[in-house]
Amino acid sequence: MNAKTSIPPAFQRAIQVATQKLTHLVEAYPDLTPSFTENGKWRLQQAGWTNWCEGFLGGALWLAYLLTGQQRLREAARHYSKLIEDRKTDPDVHDLGFLFLPTWGRWYQLEGDPYARQVVIEAGQTLARRFQEKGKYLCSFQGAHSLYIDIMMNVPLVFEAAELSQDERLFEIARQHCLTTRRYLVRGDFSTAHEGIFDPESGMFLRYRTQQGWRDDSSWARGHCWAFYGFNLAYRYTGEAQFLTTAEGLADYYLLHTPEHGIPPNDWDEPNPPYPYESSAAAIAASGFLSLAHCTRDSLRAKVYRESAQHILATLSSDEFLATDEGWEGILRHAIYHLPAGVGVDESTIWGDYFFLEAIWKAINDQPDC
Ligand code: GLY
Repeated sequence: MNAKTSIPPAFQRAIQVATQKLTHLVEAYPDLTPSFTENGKWRLQQAGWTNWCEGFLGGALWLAYLLTGQQRLREAARHYSKLIEDRKTDPDVHDLGFLFLPTWGRWYQLEGDPYARQVVIEAGQTLARRFQEKGKYLCSFQGAHSLYIDIMMNVPLVFEAAELSQDERLFEIARQHCLTTRRYLVRGDFSTAHEGIFDPESGMFLRYRTQQGWRDDSSWARGHCWAFYGFNLAYRYTGEAQFLTTAEGLADYYLLHTPEHGIPPNDWDEPNPPYPYESSAAAIAASGFLSLAHCTRDSLRAKVYRESAQHILATLSSDEFLATDEGWEGILRHAIYHLPAGVGVDESTIWGDYFFLEAIWKAINDQPDC
């Protein structure tokens, strides 16, 4: 995307700011793959809780390359993708989709490199080993008893690996995971629970729990956005209408419960939330809405989703959110990582910055994918 004349000025400014911030990050902290900032500076040690963010910087560099055409960004994107390659056999996290789709997945998609294809397949096979036969879900890093809503944004890696390797067993694992998530973590009003606790022996669902939301029975905004984007991808891999209608219901819930400016709080149910904005959830939502606008069979919905994405992106590109000052190292302000733990609160996050760029690319090109 080099034709800058066709890019609206607000997006041109956002791309320029993003390119500066990413350039600073790779020059000031070589080979650091950060998760979130502290007082606007990238935190130098890895996030303590779980290692799930290491693919987003490489992914943001691929997107910055796509948006600017700068070859040095492509070289950096390849380099940061290579840095995480050994994680393709990491059995300890459920987050391999977050690591490998923005990096090696994008690499394969853009360049058709057979080695990148093989890395994606291997990472998907690793993630699929978390499948619990009794409960029929990919378990979270917490253990066999735990199903996270976030995994909806990782399961596309298993679908992708299934498609690339023509492995029906992998496809069925991914599909079953989506069905189980839909059955237990998506409620009748299309709100979502963060975590389901199961009896691993019988596979029986026991109760809800939250990690980053307000209450066990509440609706944590970012998890909800992972789900609505993820169910849309599940629909695209399977063609099953039940996944599309789930994605639409979740998207509509976002629109019904989010203030006019388009940015949700950390949890929609928390009365008087201590921070008004969780901008990373909004960036994920904007990208999700732009994909869903292409998939829905309802032209009114398509219009609403497209306009909602544009509105969210306009808010995120404003001075309140876009960190134009040099002292702040992230791109988007006002994101929240883990509010109950008080970690990464009202800061920048590398995934928020990644999905902001992804949404801008989709908005400029009117495409469901980069
Ligand atoms: N671990 C995924 C998230 O915090 O959204």
